Amino acid sequence: MNLCIRQCLLSFGAVVVLAGNAWAADPANGKTVYQQNCQACHQAAGAGVPGAFPPLANNPNIAGNPQYLAEAIIKGVSGPLEVNGKQYNGAMPPMGHIDNQKIVDLVAYILSDLNGGDGAISEASVQALR
Ligand code: HEC
Repeated sequence: MNLCIRQCLLSFGAVVVLAGNAWAADPANGKTVYQQNCQACHQAAGAGVPGAFPPLANNPNIAGNPQYLAEAIIKGVSGPLEVNGKQYNGAMPPMGHIDNQKIVDLVAYILSDLNGGDGAISEASVQALR
């Protein structure tokens, strides 16, 4: 049931984005935002550094989970976590200075280009996390 709701929302999001609606995301711009704000730690193409910076590519915590990703950007992340069997226990600073539209674009880039799936979040949903 939950899965269905999520899938339906994702499909709906994709349709809205394709229709060029108000919350259209631009993954190409998201790549630039990534290079400016994330790449220094998470590395080019989201490869990460084992034991220090988790990968943002092919990361099951992130794939299909735009809400979690946007919240991580706005509020930061700390404490133990595991990605593909590797442990991390560091701290990422909150990056809420990145504006809503850039976060929409960044989430689209990470989910589509780095995780090969759909994923969209609206500006309103990003704002609601602040
Ligand atoms: C200063 C280094 C640094 C920068 C810059 C940084 N991060 Fe992080 N990020 C980390 C660290 C360290 C962790 C792991 C935190 C932990 O172990 O709890 C992390 C964790 C994450 C996670 C959680 C991953 C998971 O599997 O749960 C996400 C999502 C994330 N970062 C996204 C981003 C995005 C997107 C950007 C750019 C806006 C970014 N980070 C910028 C250091 C950074």
